[in-house]
Amino acid sequence: MRIATSVLLLLPLAHPLLALKAHDFKTCSQSAFCRRGRALAERAPTAGSSWHSPYTIVPSSVALSSSASSFTSSVKSELYPDINFELEVRIHEDGVVRVRMDEVKGLRKRYDEASSWALVREPSLKNVKDVKWVKGKNEVKGVYDDVEVRVQYQPLKVSLWKGGREEVVLNGKELLHMEHFRVKEEKKEPETAEGGAEQAEQAVLQAPARPTAWFEGEEEDGLWAESFSTWTDQKPKGPESLSLDIHFPGHANVYGIPQHASPLSLPTTTGPSPHYTDPYRLYNLDVFEYLADSPMSLYGSIPFLHAHSAESTVGIFNAIASETWIDVSHPTEDSTLTHWVSESGILDVFLLPGPTPEDVFKQYARLTGTSAMPAHWALGYHQCRWNYISSEDVRSVQKRFDEDDFPLDVLWLDIEYSEEHKYFIWDAKNFPDPVAMVNDVAALGRKMVVIVDPHLKRVSTYPVYEKAKELDVLVKGRDGKEEYEGWCWSGSSAWVDFFHPGSWDWWKSLFRLTDGKDKDSWRWVDSTENVHIWNDMNEPSVFNGPEITMPKDNVHYGGWEHRDIHNINGMLFQNLTSQAITTRGSTPKRPFVLSRSFYAGSQRLSAIWTGDNMGSWEHMAVGIPMVLSNGIAGMTFAGADVGGFFGNPDPEMLVRWYQVGIFAPFFRAHAHIDTKRREPYLLEEPHKSIVRDVIRLRYSLLSVWYTSFRRANADGVPILRPHWVMFPKDKKGFAIDDQYFIGDSGLLVKPVTKPGATETQVYIPEDQVYYDYFTYNAYRGSAAGKTITVSSPLEKIPLFIRGGSIVPTRARPRRSSPLMKKDPFTLTVALSQAELATGELYLDDGESFDHQKGDLVWRKFDAWTLKAAKRTRMTLKSSDMTKSGQTVVDGSLVAPGAYRADNAYAKSVQSVRVEKLVILGLPKKPTTVIVQGVAQKEGWTWEGGVAADGKKEGGASVLVIKNPNLKIVDDWLVEVEF
Ligand SMILES: *[C@@H]1O[C@H](CO)[C@@H](O)[C@H](O)[C@H]1NC(C)=O
Repeated sequence: MRIATSVLLLLPLAHPLLALKAHDFKTCSQSAFCRRGRALAERAPTAGSSWHSPYTIVPSSVALSSSASSFTSSVKSELYPDINFELEVRIHEDGVVRVRMDEVKGLRKRYDEASSWALVREPSLKNVKDVKWVKGKNEVKGVYDDVEVRVQYQPLKVSLWKGGREEVVLNGKELLHMEHFRVKEEKKEPETAEGGAEQAEQAVLQAPARPTAWFEGEEEDGLWAESFSTWTDQKPKGPESLSLDIHFPGHANVYGIPQHASPLSLPTTTGPSPHYTDPYRLYNLDVFEYLADSPMSLYGSIPFLHAHSAESTVGIFNAIASETWIDVSHPTEDSTLTHWVSESGILDVFLLPGPTPEDVFKQYARLTGTSAMPAHWALGYHQCRWNYISSEDVRSVQKRFDEDDFPLDVLWLDIEYSEEHKYFIWDAKNFPDPVAMVNDVAALGRKMVVIVDPHLKRVSTYPVYEKAKELDVLVKGRDGKEEYEGWCWSGSSAWVDFFHPGSWDWWKSLFRLTDGKDKDSWRWVDSTENVHIWNDMNEPSVFNGPEITMPKDNVHYGGWEHRDIHNINGMLFQNLTSQAITTRGSTPKRPFVLSRSFYAGSQRLSAIWTGDNMGSWEHMAVGIPMVLSNGIAGMTFAGADVGGFFGNPDPEMLVRWYQVGIFAPFFRAHAHIDTKRREPYLLEEPHKSIVRDVIRLRYSLLSVWYTSFRRANADGVPILRPHWVMFPKDKKGFAIDDQYFIGDSGLLVKPVTKPGATETQVYIPEDQVYYDYFTYNAYRGSAAGKTITVSSPLEKIPLFIRGGSIVPTRARPRRSSPLMKKDPFTLTVALSQAELATGELYLDDGESFDHQKGDLVWRKFDAWTLKAAKRTRMTLKSSDMTKSGQTVVDGSLVAPGAYRADNAYAKSVQSVRVEKLVILGLPKKPTTVIVQGVAQKEGWTWEGGVAADGKKEGGASVLVIKNPNLKIVDDWLVEVEF
């Protein structure tokens, strides 16, 4: 959350945060290492044939491991013959290739721990006998499956070939540069201040030419210190940046490297007329009123990129934690060149060979983990505001929701619940009875989320700060000794260093609800198991720091500078908080901890959101590609604030924003302290009823969301699927980022994000029937792709069921999702052109970890049609999905043999019925409907209309079978004859 004028007044007036503006954030030209990286890239082509990479492999040093599939060698740079580097190329079991390079025996050690935080485990390598190494004169080739990894000696180049095509090339454009640690040379600086320009020029003329100038440039640029605005970064370690070009010779589209407010298919930043003039930046920042179309850094960073073409997809994961800038260009129409420049760290790049988007998701999930299985209630509607100001306010908001029949699962409290922003400690004046208040909210199965930020108010009356000081686990200033002091909500503050192992158990103990062993130890008396946590401001945001974050020369555990670990910082905080919430009660429960900052691996924890957006149509629209982009980079549990954090959206905008919001995995409305109240019950009609229906639609589809989360949890395939993921060969879909599919459900949505829209164009990518979700109108696509125009007045969301899908829903409106646990299901069978359909339903208790022991229900539904001479029969079958086996990459899934169909959870929902079957697109009126072998004389209705297998458009035929007396947990058959 960002500053409100009302809060500003509480802070000392001379404070620099009063001057907050968008230009408080650096451009590449204001960052010395980015400037150096870009200048290097600009010098390269102009140097013509004399340009070459100075890095070469020493052939005599090449070693191939005899026990595993890896390659090591020494690397030399002709620029600095005395400096040594080591290169390692490892081939993982699943075919992913890891390329690591580090300086060896240098003056200092480069930061090499990013991967240890990002990776879920150290990947195992391919068996040596499965890889054939072929040594050539100037290269070594590792050959396995249909892949070849080629490591060229001079100049150093690593490339991945698949099926005879060159897919990824490292250093193919020869921009690799690992600046080694060096001793600062004390030179006599020319007297520019008094002597004037002439004298300075003289000095330059007399200086001997730098032998490395062709590569590094004539001038040293900001190697030892640099200033930005009023801050100076001391850079005691000197230069250590890393430049690397990664070329995709056959891929014209790249996606990922979130988070940016940009289109999903990343536009260019260099080359002829680039879309953006700055590179994409990855540096977690609390950006004030961010722009709706920009490569600027935002709150989270995932250095993971997909490169895609109709032929194949590959992925790149660059395990780097320092500030990184990425230029994107297309040297030819069908290729993409990316140039990565990072401030510090080793080279540690993973090449994911694909070949499909789904393979890349799975390969990435094997590296960094899949997304956590969320608590079921976390998929409901979250109502937040800065701030609900008192217990009475909370109670009255909840009451209004109930009076007006709006479903709601979670009520949130922003920073003002706490006394002077000392988190954990309630403001006793406004919240005199926190536990009673939480219990009131929990009475209908609801939860509360309260904020705990990482800045600790530096006062002796705050036990959390006092204990952190005593344990010596606070981030240190540049001297590495004194605790760092900065400004945040709590005024003068200190930050816990979550890299310090000494902070871990202590932090977790803060959330304990009962006494610990040590009788004076802390316990959170004013909390219950129904309170979950919001970790905001964890980039970290520091109001008086450079770019509103910590100085880069601050020192963390192990002596690492803040610059080395910056992008990981927020993930550690969320991790420790998630662990605390999981374990605080008598039995472990799934945590909900919303974080603003994130990194590769954050998906293993909980949710994130897109930060402080604005109540504008542009921001509503860009939220969609942002959430899609986070998803394809693993961080699938994401959403944007409904309504926009800043501003006062008009009723039309608010309605449309809810329509967008219900189609994001995380669905929360939030608003700034200076905005007018905008809870949905405050709307006038017809907007109020429209929003109620919209939220109810979300609730009716919760099982679709939950099933999609399970899939993401199982193998890392994202919940929201952009077109290129669903139809990787359809070029027309590669740039589409305003419509998308939800999991494997077959639902296609295109939320309306323009004012006054009454019609919307929707792209249908295939020769298939698509049914309007609400009217069952059948539309036809074509093999070449087809755009249809659908009516979309304010109350209408363009939402379709792809022919071939079976969608499980629950129709009973309830006040909260836990109240739906025993509600019956409706199955909508949307027949495909081939008169087939399939679907899935995953259920478990929604909060414990018993699903890992096999306490779950996972159903598979299949429908097919058999034509015989006399009659045609459509069969709908329900079977146990866990028996059919599935792709699983995550260790948290059911161990083989652990699942039993009569497990405790399945028993608890034994009575849950299927109350309705809706079958769309049958060719004619059935003669007989047979349920479990028994012909049904009544209980079904038929409405004639368009058949799935024809070419016609218009209202589809609808067969409704009411109360078929089937249980959701059982195996059963329904047959329809005609
Ligand atoms: C969270 O911390 C635990 C150790 O406490 C570690 O095993 C796990 O990998 C971490 N997860 C993330 C996403 O940082």
